Amino acid sequence: MVLMIIMFPLLLLLLFLAVESKSMGSYGLALASYYVENELSLSIINLYLSSYDQFNYEPILRYNRNIQNNNKNKDLIIPIGSRVRVPFPCECQPGDFLRHNFTYRFQQINTYERVAIRRYANLTTEGSLQGRNPFPANNIPPSATLNVLVNCSCGDESVSKDYGLFVTYPLRPEDSLDMIANSSGVPGDVISRYNPGVDFSSRNRIVFVPGRDPSGAFPHFQSSKKGGIGVGVIAGICVGVVVALMLISLFIYYAYRTSKSKGDYRDCGRCNVRVGVFQVFSGISAINVDNSVDFSMEELAKATDNFSLSFKIGQGSFGAVYYAELRGEKAAIKKMDMEASKQFLAELKVLTHVHHVNLVRLIGYCVEGSLFLVYEYVENGDLGQHLHGSRLEPLPWTKRVQIALDSARGLEYIHEHTVPVYVHRDIKSANILIDQNFRAKVADFGLTKLIEIGGAATRGAMGTFGYMAPETIYAQVSAKVDVYAFGVVLFKLISAKGAVVKMNESVGEFKSLVGVFDEVVFNKETDKEEALRKIIDPRLGDQYPFDSVYKMAELGKACSTQQNAQRRPTMRYIVVASSTLLSSTGNWDHVANFQNDDLLGQMSGR
Ligand SMILES: Nc1ncnc2c1ncn2[C@@H]1O[C@H](COP(=O)(O)OP(=O)(O)O)[C@@H](O)[C@H]1O
Ligand SMILES: *[C@@H]1O[C@H](CO)[C@@H](O)[C@H](O)[C@H]1NC(C)=O
Ligand SMILES: *[C@@H]1O[C@H](CO)[C@@H](O)[C@H](O)[C@H]1NC(C)=O
Ligand SMILES: *[C@@H]1O[C@H](CO)[C@@H](O)[C@H](O)[C@H]1NC(C)=O
Ligand SMILES: *[C@@H]1O[C@H](CO)[C@@H](O)[C@H](O)[C@H]1NC(C)=O
Ligand SMILES: [Mg+2]
Repeated sequence: MVLMIIMFPLLLLLLFLAVESKSMGSYGLALASYYVENELSLSIINLYLSSYDQFNYEPILRYNRNIQNNNKNKDLIIPIGSRVRVPFPCECQPGDFLRHNFTYRFQQINTYERVAIRRYANLTTEGSLQGRNPFPANNIPPSATLNVLVNCSCGDESVSKDYGLFVTYPLRPEDSLDMIANSSGVPGDVISRYNPGVDFSSRNRIVFVPGRDPSGAFPHFQSSKKGGIGVGVIAGICVGVVVALMLISLFIYYAYRTSKSKGDYRDCGRCNVRVGVFQVFSGISAINVDNSVDFSMEELAKATDNFSLSFKIGQGSFGAVYYAELRGEKAAIKKMDMEASKQFLAELKVLTHVHHVNLVRLIGYCVEGSLFLVYEYVENGDLGQHLHGSRLEPLPWTKRVQIALDSARGLEYIHEHTVPVYVHRDIKSANILIDQNFRAKVADFGLTKLIEIGGAATRGAMGTFGYMAPETIYAQVSAKVDVYAFGVVLFKLISAKGAVVKMNESVGEFKSLVGVFDEVVFNKETDKEEALRKIIDPRLGDQYPFDSVYKMAELGKACSTQQNAQRRPTMRYIVVASSTLLSSTGNWDHVANFQNDDLLGQMSGR
């Protein structure tokens, strides 16, 4: 605590100095209105629009009281059609417009247009990206870092002094001045005076709309000494004020912590520096980013009664899995017979920072003797147990569709949204875990990479038989090998058969499940409906909507029967397809009320 108090003004000082040396403008706060076009989680929005910790979205939540977060460990899925307000520092440069540079880690096949439209929800434009980045539009290197500009406003005292915080708002076709006035609580004529000459019914325009602070009030614009003052003088004032701010930052830090006061506004050239929020946005959140946990061997042994059989919950290809309660949290400890190198530890550290509702979280690790990985405990076993075990109730169809969607989301996340991105390489039903609410989480992502680093596996032996895409033989590993394996999981959800199927007991004929679907169900000569009905998990009885099953089979076919990896869909596509499948299946009357309050549950972080 004491350290933090000492550190904080220093940090602020460094921050301001770093910022000041780059441009002589001053910094204020603005809000970006992020329209969610495809279901997205808050940490992803945070990844695009904040340069700090992706998983600390507390600053965003402050400005979006409608989003509740009851469970700190879970990511929040934002429903389609929502607008999320994201605070960002606004560079108030003396010039004709204000802006902020974001950086974007370019991933996979992408274009400037996609980055503007999809990633940045039209907060920036293709032209602007092209103008600010050195890469030719048709040849952006993968993992390039892009410079992204988002315009912002700090207000205009000639319009009104009542507003000092502005939302950068990309217009949508359904927007109108009336609607924006209605939802923002600001008179329409005031909004249009802030946006002279803008036609509010035209799409592809950005407008600036006065916004509220976390308390719900409109921050005021503080009059600035405008007129005959030159840039140098303004800069001088800025530096002076910044130094003054530094001196009082300790005081304000305290005031903020104790009273959550709204913060302070200072003149600085053409805009206000909002002290309270600026701290939260860039100072405090940046301090505690490393939340990985080191466990001692002693602690783990104690929690598992010295790794006794009674605590063992599973046996995997690399070692046994034990149940434990560690520091008040239920955990699964995976004991692996291998040594951890330095590179290995670095990789582990990265993995502890990946959080998503549909991924089994790596809480921490221990490297004494053997290697122990400590994962969050998922109560309800793995998908394989639910499909094959007669001990458990058969999974109803709607739950199967939900499980497909959940695991697709988990995979999409590691394929597209983590830094670095991951290919799972061992997707199978044993690596899809089911929680109390029958929601699925993908386990063991990042593990194959770890094992490779550890040198415990030989090349080509990665993955599980029956789930392996054909190109794996040639060591051609892309995200599409996960898509292939995911297709096998879909076939399993339908048929509850093993990934390798015994066709004829007596002669010992075996076929992969992919082969079975390809040759039996999607055979040109057969009656597809009849063939599919024959292969559907008998434990479902007649409790399934055939249409939905057929669509899932087709999705599985698109994933797995393509020899050409490039022609398989992406996980993003699969998420959209299974989401559509779930909403049409959810209306199916025979299925109990599983799906209804689902989104609500996610919004409140259940
Ligand atoms: N985090 C966890 N929570 C609950 N059970 C788990 C967890 N991780 C693994 N298990 C159980 O232990 C079994 C073996 O796990 P694992 O070592 O990952 O096997 P594999 O190498 O086949 O993926 C899993 O199939 C699952 O039933
Ligand atoms: C923003 O990007 C522009 C163009 O690359 C650069 O000149 C400017 O210094 C950047 N500003 C900051 C604050 O990074
Ligand atoms: C961005 O603009 C494009 C083109 O007008 C549109 O298709 C897309 O839906 C918009 N995206 C968002 C998130 O508003
Ligand atoms: C930012 O504003 C300037 C000036 O109005 C404009 O020329 C530019 O296109 C805008 N950039 C973006 C990304 O909206
Ligand atoms: C404005 O909002 C109110 C409720 O907040 C609603 O009843 C009304 O229809 C809205 N008007 C317009 C023009 O959207
Ligand atoms: Mg596993």
